[in-house]
Amino acid sequence: MAYFDDVKERLEALRHKDEIIILGIETSCDETSAAVVKNGRMVLSNKISSQVGLHRQYGGVVPEIASRKHVEVISPIIDQALEEAGVGINDLDCIAVTFGPGLVGALLVGLSVAKALAYALRLPLVGVDHIEGHISANYIAHPQLEPPFLCLVVSGGHTHLIWVKDYGEYALIGQTRDDAAGEAYDKVARALGLSYPGGPAIDSIARQGNPEAVQFPRAYMEGDNFDFSFSGLKTAVLNYLNTLEQRDQSYSIADIAASFQQAVVDVLVDKTIAAAQKIGTTKIALAGGVAANSSLRERMRQKAQECGFELYYPPPVLCTDNAAMIACAAYYNLMKGKIHDLFLTVEPSFSNIVNGHAQCG
Ligand code: KG4
Ligand code: ZN
Repeated sequence: MAYFDDVKERLEALRHKDEIIILGIETSCDETSAAVVKNGRMVLSNKISSQVGLHRQYGGVVPEIASRKHVEVISPIIDQALEEAGVGINDLDCIAVTFGPGLVGALLVGLSVAKALAYALRLPLVGVDHIEGHISANYIAHPQLEPPFLCLVVSGGHTHLIWVKDYGEYALIGQTRDDAAGEAYDKVARALGLSYPGGPAIDSIARQGNPEAVQFPRAYMEGDNFDFSFSGLKTAVLNYLNTLEQRDQSYSIADIAASFQQAVVDVLVDKTIAAAQKIGTTKIALAGGVAANSSLRERMRQKAQECGFELYYPPPVLCTDNAAMIACAAYYNLMKGKIHDLFLTVEPSFSNIVNGHAQCG
């Protein structure tokens, strides 16, 4: 029987199953990850092989090296995820994979493996938008969380305020006009001589610094605007460092890291709260690698409490790239019958959530 007929039969059978087991695969950047998730929110395994050590010597991700490493480790990682979950390959109901946005070569590795598995096992394939994956990490961390809520997605490649109307239904409220928040962290960390990835390095050293030491600019933009801009802040830090170095003046890395972080967090927190007030929601969620930042979590918690919002964020391991969040997002797509055929291709720079939806005022 043709693959698609088999898949149709599978989908019909899924209606009568009370346990739906999804294998998630994530290879969009420099983490190779495979996870097994039951009924959308119960993580049976979430294996992550990070390439951070490999890219550190170059100060950032080298795409070709990332692709090659994904090829090397993807199969063992999937085997480990299945073994840890105590799930056989024939127990799977669906294959989920990130198909974009991300690095083209890296995405292709995950998508090719996912298609091969879906075809061989006659299972439905669900391609997941990476940003939708990040948002969905909150469903895993908070079993009671339901849409609607406002989500601040902050990672190495993204800074978006997204109104999550329902499962799979999104409206873009604001986004960065230049650098992503994580990108600013990584670039400033590099200038400060801290190792890659810069976010965790700044987060850690900033704890010993004075956040009021240097007044770096905050880009709030005009009135009711929920867009972000971080490149001016990044340039201000680099200029500040250059001036000190030219004058042969010593400086405290911890103070500069803390002051930079304070400027980022101020804008992220204020804009998110203002957007939530404008929308009239009661719930705010954080997602993406920068959502692991201790200062952002702390300040957002204080502000949310003060202003009467419920705040949700995943544990750090679910903030950074992982396959459990991909399997979780796929579950809700699968339940709505949103699956892909084997002609699915990677989308390195297109996000259906961000680019495919009208701006919401
Ligand atoms: O979500 P993610 O793993 O990958 C992307 O989708 O981009 O995010 C990685 C980004 C990097 O820029 C990294 O520096 C940043 O998240 N990051 C942090 C922290 N942990 C990771 N930024 C600030 N504080 C952290 N604790
Ligand atoms: Zn990510």
